[in-house]
Amino acid sequence: MTTPDYAEKIPNNVSLNEDRRLQRALESWQPNFLSWWESMGPTLPTRDVYLRTAVNVGREGWAQFGHVPMRDYRWGIFLAEREGDRRIAFGAHKGEPAWQKVPGEYRAELQRLIVIQGDTEPASVEQQRNLGATAPSLYDLRNLFQVNVEEGRHLWAMVYLLHAYFGREGREEAEELLHRNSGSEDSPRILGAFNEETPDWLSFYMFTYFTDRDGKYQLGTLKESAFDPLSRTCEFMLKEEAHHMMVGTTGVDRVVERTAQVMVENDTDDVAAHGAIPLPVIQKYINFHYSVSLDLFGGETSTNVANYYTAGLKGRWLEERRKDDHLLTSDSIMVDALTDGEIGQTEVAALVGLNTDLRREYTADCAGGVKRWNRILEQAGLPQRLYLPHVAFNRKVGAFAAIEASPTGEKLTAGEWEAGKGQWLPTDTDKTFVRSLMQPVHQRGKIAAWIAPPRNGINGQPFDYDYVHLI
Ligand SMILES: [Fe+2]
Ligand SMILES: [Fe+2]
Repeated sequence: MTTPDYAEKIPNNVSLNEDRRLQRALESWQPNFLSWWESMGPTLPTRDVYLRTAVNVGREGWAQFGHVPMRDYRWGIFLAEREGDRRIAFGAHKGEPAWQKVPGEYRAELQRLIVIQGDTEPASVEQQRNLGATAPSLYDLRNLFQVNVEEGRHLWAMVYLLHAYFGREGREEAEELLHRNSGSEDSPRILGAFNEETPDWLSFYMFTYFTDRDGKYQLGTLKESAFDPLSRTCEFMLKEEAHHMMVGTTGVDRVVERTAQVMVENDTDDVAAHGAIPLPVIQKYINFHYSVSLDLFGGETSTNVANYYTAGLKGRWLEERRKDDHLLTSDSIMVDALTDGEIGQTEVAALVGLNTDLRREYTADCAGGVKRWNRILEQAGLPQRLYLPHVAFNRKVGAFAAIEASPTGEKLTAGEWEAGKGQWLPTDTDKTFVRSLMQPVHQRGKIAAWIAPPRNGINGQPFDYDYVHLI
């Protein structure tokens, strides 16, 4: 079960060859996926890239590294190993055996959850497709492509579930996942943040830090699902996501490190003239990416999510580590809310406030990055600090969608917002400046001037390794 079969057209560890119908259906989706990859995937022509490919789902040594032409990447279907007697950990079915098939009563909801997750995976590939042309180093270029092929694989993961468990409707949804496109007028991706462009590498690091991290938390809730194949799929996806988080965390680290260095060397805050990104611009990018990622958690309260929980479709982050009854029928939670028009909190039933519970876990995790970046500033002897903006800042979804607030959480009039937003969110001037720095550095061992080199290479290779062979 653990070893994927690479002799197959579609590498997998789900014994695809024992279900000819399913195998044929997925094999007929495969060329559509490949033509989507060719037309919507990375635009920079490459000969091959030093990529990791999953070869095992076990704890140790699950990946293998080597130079592969990207179109020959072995996208496949890998589920974490099945736990012998897995029981449902929460909700009305708590204690019952996990489901190996989709219960009819929850079919529509489960399909919807899988489609929404599946839609984000190819969306990010589309958002990032032009970044290769301006990569700051071959190391970064390789990381971009690794993230891209794995998001492609995550699409495979969701499409497998749709094909295997949701019949004809599932197959139709799988087609739609290739037809919607990020930013498209006619058929955009489902969630707002996945229709924003990723026009420069600072945005890419922010995206992999903040938006991929949202993905981590969503996958974490689906990993708890009573529907066992979904749970096992998400468990393995989370393993791959860890690398995406690393790319984001260390990417912002390196931008901050370089900025701090230039500030100290030239004894100035105005590092733009020296080809680095000023701290206030970095802060604006944090403000933007964090606030749009918060929107991905949905409203503070949601009866849908309460129902998903009770039904066992979607749990909480680290459900089994929570010390409560895992039913939550008599608990309550304070959630962010407008109270008498002011930014405040209100008490609701815990089940209804589950989005808030998840979003708070996410925020605590995001704060870890800010702490790291501030340590870099501190070690450089600088007094400036970065921060996460207030939960009410720049929100389009939830309790604060109807108002404007400053990054420190003061409610603003429309006029105050208009006057202030250029100090808080990237302006056209900021974006143009950041873009002007995005000159490709495609020579081995070289790096752009606006970012520090990484501390470590990939898979024990040095920074100056030939991670990518261009055409
Ligand atoms: Fe993903
Ligand atoms: Fe990711």
